[in-house]
Amino acid sequence: MHKTVFLKEAVDHLSLKVGDTVVDATFGNGGHTREILERVGPSGVVVAIDQDPHAVERMRELQKTFFNIRPIHGNFRALDTILAEGGIECVDAVLFDVGLSQNLLEESERGFSFRKDEPLDMRMDPTTAIRAYDIVNTYPEHEIADIIYQFGEERRSRRIARAIVNERRSQRIKTSGVLSELIMKISSGRERSAKLHPATRTFQALRIYVNDELAALEEGLTKAIAVLKPGGRCVVIAFHSLEDRIAKLLFRKEANHNTVRLVTKKPLTVSQEERITNPRARSAKMRVIEKRI
Ligand SMILES: C[S@@+](CC[C@H](N)C(=O)[O-])C[C@H]1O[C@@H](n2cnc3c(N)ncnc32)[C@H](O)[C@@H]1O
Repeated sequence: MHKTVFLKEAVDHLSLKVGDTVVDATFGNGGHTREILERVGPSGVVVAIDQDPHAVERMRELQKTFFNIRPIHGNFRALDTILAEGGIECVDAVLFDVGLSQNLLEESERGFSFRKDEPLDMRMDPTTAIRAYDIVNTYPEHEIADIIYQFGEERRSRRIARAIVNERRSQRIKTSGVLSELIMKISSGRERSAKLHPATRTFQALRIYVNDELAALEEGLTKAIAVLKPGGRCVVIAFHSLEDRIAKLLFRKEANHNTVRLVTKKPLTVSQEERITNPRARSAKMRVIEKRI
């Protein structure tokens, strides 16, 4: 279902050897994990993490073929605890391919897509506290506007927040379809016919807020750098500028402190061919660092 972005390139940049210990912090549909398992061989160890319970079911399926995968249901922001509990002190490589999988978008029924009419949830990990439903139905108008502006970089944030609050006075906004329709209704003809669906940025903002994605990424990357062996690599694939900026600033800071070397000075983007065969890959940016000795 999920089409892996930068499949070979990301794993090549991890510079793996047979027997390595590797973390795939975002298992998703296991595209990268399978490639990593092939390269480290049966003497290697692959710790696979995902906060989506369905992804963990897929890890367990894969474990039937590869006994050396260790499936973890958890958040990569707890990478240090996850590894300590598994008796692992340091690792050779860590991969982060952040954001949504096609599986979450298309089959989770948790309201990630503005093209579907599903309960407005958007939690990647359904055991966490806040749903998108809670934000749109209970948060004050100014807070909703701030979330949409900050995490969606949406210029129309105030207009959209006002429409949400007006709508919820008569009925609760329960589904992704209702929210998407509401944003469509207050959009101009030009906005409606633009390439980007008028609800794209609002949905992105709610998802990032619900899953606290930016803080989790910063924490996860910081912990990954700490557990890398000297010469070990960390690869990050980001899908929008807010995520990419987190990686860029953190990597730059660590490079200034001489803890890491920037392997990619500028982020890598996908080939023309991948752009055509996988539209989701168009916005992808990959950054790579290496831990210094
Ligand atoms: C883009 S997909 C990964 C796709 C995967 N590389 C593949 O090839 O199939 C991102 C995955 O990361 C998971 N994820 C996102 N943020 C996470 C976090 N903070 N902790 C753990 N998993 C996370 C999502 O649930 C999703 O399954």
